[in-house]
Amino acid sequence: MLGQYLLELDFGASRIMEGYGLADLPSVIGDRRAVVVTDDHLAQLYSAELSGYRQVVIPQADAAKNMAEIDRVLGELLAIGLDRSDVLIAFGGGAVSDVTGFVAAIYKRGIDCIYVPTTVLSMVDAAIGGKTGVNHGSLKNMVGAFKMPTHIFIDPRYCLTLEQENYQQGFAEMVKHGLIWDESYITLLERYQSSLMQRELETLAMCISGASRIKIDIIKEDSMEYGQRKLLNFGHTIGHAIERRQGLAHGDAVSIGMVGAMHISSQYCGLSEEDILRAAELLQGFGLPVIQQLRTEQFWDLLVKDKKTRGDSVDYVFLESIGTARLEAIEHTTLRTMLDEVYARVS
Ligand SMILES: NC(=O)c1ccc[n+]([C@@H]2O[C@H](COP(=O)([O-])OP(=O)(O)OC[C@H]3O[C@@H](n4cnc5c(N)ncnc54)[C@H](O)[C@@H]3O)[C@@H](O)[C@H]2O)c1
Ligand SMILES: [Zn+2]
Repeated sequence: MLGQYLLELDFGASRIMEGYGLADLPSVIGDRRAVVVTDDHLAQLYSAELSGYRQVVIPQADAAKNMAEIDRVLGELLAIGLDRSDVLIAFGGGAVSDVTGFVAAIYKRGIDCIYVPTTVLSMVDAAIGGKTGVNHGSLKNMVGAFKMPTHIFIDPRYCLTLEQENYQQGFAEMVKHGLIWDESYITLLERYQSSLMQRELETLAMCISGASRIKIDIIKEDSMEYGQRKLLNFGHTIGHAIERRQGLAHGDAVSIGMVGAMHISSQYCGLSEEDILRAAELLQGFGLPVIQQLRTEQFWDLLVKDKKTRGDSVDYVFLESIGTARLEAIEHTTLRTMLDEVYARVS
């Protein structure tokens, strides 16, 4: 069942409109001027649908997520003469919404934006919750702003044109949402895994909706990420570090990171081996990797520089059982010991 609902956070609100796509933009844009920000791949692939819009085209994926690119986009918007009363549209995956949202936060001190996410990952995660930003050198998402798009259109039909590798990435975050919050969502993914892999649209729409509603449930109590919202970082402490070191896709890295975090959880807070096997099987069924290739010392330097680090400790997400996660600040030295022990045992 498609729906519309409002996500209200401390710093703004987004209307989430399921089943809406590019063709529905005019009704929301009204008489404002609009500029679409998209990447060079989507600009070509969806050239017919985008033809009526002024466009700013950025490179694909994380190649766009740097300050030089932000500066270039701002320059293009100034050249176009966009005003604060106009609107930016992000058409693309998480990299496009991260760049567009950040630009929207700072262009003339803030301009409205609308997100039209085009990947599974961005529909269930990146487009929702107002975090925007770019990387700094090899460090992920270090510079950015909180900015809520006024509207988020969720149209799973865009996922039909995704390459298989990109399609699969989003399932890592969907599995994550179930693992940390709702066991019944994991059961749903298990039940519908084969139709999801066949991109059966109704099932995809239902599972995307379920995952985004879980994210909303989690963040609405903690807009600024002081506590509960940090649960969404499950698997990302290891994940971000190996993503940068090995050049992995985000979902692949998070999948490996979650399995690592589950092994740590089994050692230190009683997660059962059964639960680990269940989660790993689900991830593998979505074509995601689960085996860690690197030794701890090969990614440790990146891990301690992560955003989740505070002084000598890191906010780490443990899983007690599928559906129940726990956040705890642990010292770097303790985490290092845990990682060394766990990877010595499982590799
Ligand atoms: N802000 C947040 O809360 C948040 C959360 C999670 C991830 N992210 C960020 O999102 C980024 C990853 O985003 P992503 O995986 O959604 O994709 P992406 O923007 O990195 O794009 C990946 C590739 O998919 C292509 N693509 C996108 N949509 C397509 C479609 N419909 N058909 C064909 N090809 C398509 C793009 O052209 C690109 O080549 C990372 O930079 C990550 O840090 C942000
Ligand atoms: Zn993620």
